[in-house]
Amino acid sequence: MSNERYIEEYMKKTPRSREFYEKAARKLAGGAESNIRLFKPYPLYLTHGRGQYIYDVDGNEYIDMISGMGAIILGHNDPEVRAAVIERVTKGGDVLGCPTDQSMHYIELVQKAFPSMELCRFSNSGTEATMNLIRIARAYTGKDCIAKAEGAYHGGHDYVLHALHLTDNELNSDPKRPPCLPYGSGIPKVVTEQLIKVIPYNDAEATAEILEKDQDKIACLILEPVMGGGGLIIPTDDFLTKVRKITEKLGIVLIFDEVLTGFRIAYGGGQERFGVNADLTALSKIAGGGFQMACIGGKREVMETILPKVQGTAAEVSAGMRNAVQVGTYNGHPTSLAAGGKTIEILGRSGTYEYLNKISDMLWGGLKDLLDDKKIVGSVNYIGPLGTIYFDCISANTWRETFCLNEAKWTHFFFGMMNRGVYLGIPHCDERFFLNKAHTEEDIQKILDTADEVLDEIKREG
Ligand SMILES: Cc1ncc(COP(=O)(O)O)c(C=O)c1O
Repeated sequence: MSNERYIEEYMKKTPRSREFYEKAARKLAGGAESNIRLFKPYPLYLTHGRGQYIYDVDGNEYIDMISGMGAIILGHNDPEVRAAVIERVTKGGDVLGCPTDQSMHYIELVQKAFPSMELCRFSNSGTEATMNLIRIARAYTGKDCIAKAEGAYHGGHDYVLHALHLTDNELNSDPKRPPCLPYGSGIPKVVTEQLIKVIPYNDAEATAEILEKDQDKIACLILEPVMGGGGLIIPTDDFLTKVRKITEKLGIVLIFDEVLTGFRIAYGGGQERFGVNADLTALSKIAGGGFQMACIGGKREVMETILPKVQGTAAEVSAGMRNAVQVGTYNGHPTSLAAGGKTIEILGRSGTYEYLNKISDMLWGGLKDLLDDKKIVGSVNYIGPLGTIYFDCISANTWRETFCLNEAKWTHFFFGMMNRGVYLGIPHCDERFFLNKAHTEEDIQKILDTADEVLDEIKREG
């Protein structure tokens, strides 16, 4: 089957998505709600999800492996989460604008999973969470620069939209001294040139040198414990432990962006999985149980930077007697707290992660076996219910190593799976896909049987 044929097959199966796209593109920029959802010839338009399935406007059913971009871990429309949401909405007060009686219960649940989050606050998305934590780290240290890993995604604000791609000129730049390029236009030059330092993930020695050189300027290092925001790179060679020691020694705040890894790769995210605590942590996605919210928190002393310096009247406080500002109309949204709290409660029940790990080993191990049996070169990177395939890469332990990824094969794999009823995820080859608790062993077998067929096609086409 040629490239054209699998696209043709997609178009034959999804005529209403095409109609939607043609109408939507006139009024909704690009025809989609977010840049990342766009793909050619047009995106799949969905109507709803139930359990492990999602449904498109043509009535096609897919086994869902995008899982709400990682926000869904129990499957769609989980009955207990739905009941908690209905109860909260029925009680009344969609948004109250005052502290509520729900927050304490939620934070206690979070702290069981993430003991390093001694003092917490809420915000509304992963982007807001990392933006807030960077400000807190700056206020606490009195320093302005931030360090981030090359290739790591931490949301859509200016500070972190750096070092997410390399131009042809920079492709051969020294991997131990990654360049700092803004990702897209509209980012002030002064931010790129003066505020951002880039480190190579999984190279502790080079990271130490970069941090040491600018230790007087760098407020924080923001890292995903496992790089999952784009692709999937697992920490090797005690990278996280080493980075923890270096940042402590240099007085640099270590922020773990656990927006994606929190409650996914373990109940306590990367911190539980690798036994390394951050100073500050960002949680979102699963933490909202499918509704928009984020929970940020960390060392009491660092988080206290957001408290008013002096106790005063409301007028004095709003006149600017604070340290770092952390605000938001929708912070601690009642519906999100209800959905997120119920989700965390369910995840805390015995057997949840054992089951997720069991089906994950079955899927990723099975995919690796298929590649090996068919002698297709590729690397299957995974950690629990989070994984991806890098076609043509023998190993993928650093972001740069994934550049050998064969985009044509990945695209063929993506469409081949989708045309047969398995929706893998974000349709870009440097992304990753997710399993959730609603997937059954039969689903995993179906995904593997489908992959078997698609990989045969890829093999035939070379
Ligand atoms: C690791 C990580 N951090 C931050 C974000 C941004 O979260 P949001 O899209 O909720 O703003 C994402 C989104 O995918 C992410 O994967």
